[in-house]
Amino acid sequence: MNFRPITALTGAEVQGIDVRTVGPASFQQLRKALAHFKVLYIQNQHLDTEQLCTFSRGIGPLIRVPFIQPMEENADVIAVLKEADETNMGVFGGDWHSDFSFLPQPPMASILYSVEVPEAGGDTVWANMAAAYAALPEATKAFLKDRKVIHTGKPYGTTHAPPRKTRFTGSIQMDRNNPDADKETVHPAVCRHPDTGEPMLFVSPTYTTRFSDLSEAQSEPVLNEIYAHSTKPEFTCRHRWQAGTIAMWDNRATMHCAMNDYDGYRRLLFRTTIAGHKPLAH
Ligand SMILES: [Fe+2]
Repeated sequence: MNFRPITALTGAEVQGIDVRTVGPASFQQLRKALAHFKVLYIQNQHLDTEQLCTFSRGIGPLIRVPFIQPMEENADVIAVLKEADETNMGVFGGDWHSDFSFLPQPPMASILYSVEVPEAGGDTVWANMAAAYAALPEATKAFLKDRKVIHTGKPYGTTHAPPRKTRFTGSIQMDRNNPDADKETVHPAVCRHPDTGEPMLFVSPTYTTRFSDLSEAQSEPVLNEIYAHSTKPEFTCRHRWQAGTIAMWDNRATMHCAMNDYDGYRRLLFRTTIAGHKPLAH
């Protein structure tokens, strides 16, 4: 197994691996690489949903996430699908986020496997939140020290549901207007990576509403500044999908965003979600 870094700070392509035949020592190496590089791609794989789950369980136990209907034939897998005729609408995951950051125990990692990809567009972009924290001005680090942020499942809730025209309500069945999604979860704004010890920003524009000690209006300008900083190109890596690629990311240490630039093309990926723990304050 060979790791080829994508940028100096974020992401690596794993070469020389068939994920159907990975043993315990290689899984350990992959978990270590995931904590280090934050995003890993593995190209030219040939998997059905059960094989994807078997591989995913080697990274960690699977969880089933709320508000989104899983696949009928495999409840551990979400089919991330947008049909060619689903145009002029939002896309699932189309704004910056960390997956399900509003859960008391947010996922440790997510895994996507591409089945059908558009001829043009449909890339995924990740931002490295440990690198982003390290480069913050000292005054911002001081402001964030011991601060906490509120996360809610707002896109699926009633209070903050997105405007209809920007909602993605196509091939992914979502449980919209669910009052449970409005529940507030408090997480530290800066967390410690449990494996590497790095401090990392843990904010998620799709789900974070405010700092726990400030109003939404007071929080907004500061959060927007942090989002703009975190998503600077130098902290990101961008993946151009080919069919048969696995991408997995450390969901504690990254945000990601699906590019909605492929109207007229079909895009289908299978997703699994790896269990995590309550985030630790740095
Ligand atoms: Fe996502």
